Amino acid sequence: MNKENYNVIEANELTKRFGEITAVNRISLDVKKGEIFGFLGPNGAGKTTTIRMLTGLLIPDSGNICIDGIDVRKNPVQAKMKMGIIPELGNIYADLTAKQNIILAGKFYGVSKTELKRRADDLLDQFELYDRKDVPVRTFSKGMKQRINIASALVHNPEILFLDEPTSGLDVQSQRLIRNIIKRMNQKGTTVFLTTHNIEEANQLCERVGIINRGRIVVIDRPERLRRTFEESQSVEISWDKEIDTNWVKKSILTNRIERCGDKWKLYTDNPDGLVKYLVKFTQQQEWRIISLEICRASLEDVFVKLTKGK
Ligand SMILES: Nc1ncnc2c1ncn2[C@@H]1O[C@H](COP(=O)(O)OP(=O)(O)OP(=O)(O)O)[C@@H](O)[C@H]1O
Ligand SMILES: [Mg+2]
Repeated sequence: MNKENYNVIEANELTKRFGEITAVNRISLDVKKGEIFGFLGPNGAGKTTTIRMLTGLLIPDSGNICIDGIDVRKNPVQAKMKMGIIPELGNIYADLTAKQNIILAGKFYGVSKTELKRRADDLLDQFELYDRKDVPVRTFSKGMKQRINIASALVHNPEILFLDEPTSGLDVQSQRLIRNIIKRMNQKGTTVFLTTHNIEEANQLCERVGIINRGRIVVIDRPERLRRTFEESQSVEISWDKEIDTNWVKKSILTNRIERCGDKWKLYTDNPDGLVKYLVKFTQQQEWRIISLEICRASLEDVFVKLTKGK
């Protein structure tokens, strides 16, 4: 078997309903060995429901899931031994210390006593919490709690890591630390499936990104392709001191689309710099006056809205 192209996660036509709500609607996806796959979507899109099904915490109404060739429904325990799961709301015991939390998780996964001690110290060190190892987690900040949450999920050296919004609500420094740990784990061969609201995070970390909206997958693509949509969504906003015939602007090969916004014209382009130079030159030739001129770079959120619109 070619391990490089081997699907470690295979989900086929997953559906989950809660009463009237179809939280996940016939979702299929594959994640290759060694890949970081990002699952992106707004609140209520179905990300957590999907991750809970993939990790065997929730049984789908229909559809199949294979984790490293193991059918999750038939062999949930065997499948779970391969996974590190970092749930949305954490999984730690506030009254236990940082180290006790990791040891408890290790016992659950059957890690031997001597190995467990070594692993716990190593993880505490990696997560920059060794100094606080004997302090109850109750006294930790949100970012520190999340680090223990992740460390506990890594104690059995899982082959596949599932993280549900791992950096949500954390400060920039904690976010960076967690992203670096995810990258490091991946470089060592761990396959990663993570959910996020943050397109920038998906761009930094993921090889492929799936966008989910209202229980359905809108698109699965490489982040650079999403970037391209981003570039196409850039625009230049300009207004002149008089009404002008915009036909000449429309004719410019640099303009993809043109919109009237109050007294301004919004010209969509993937080359704002070139278009601004062209506009200035042309305005000069016509002896018109520019009242305002601005390059509007689309945020990644704009792109996300564009891609999910009407789906
Ligand atoms: N246990 C449940 N009982 C009833 N409805 C549920 C349950 N879990 C999820 N839902 C519904 O399923 C839909 C998808 O929820 P889910 O938690 O999967 O979204 P999400 O993409 O993770 O959102 P968020 O970004 O807010 O975490 C929502 O409409 C939610 O209300
Ligand atoms: Mg969620």
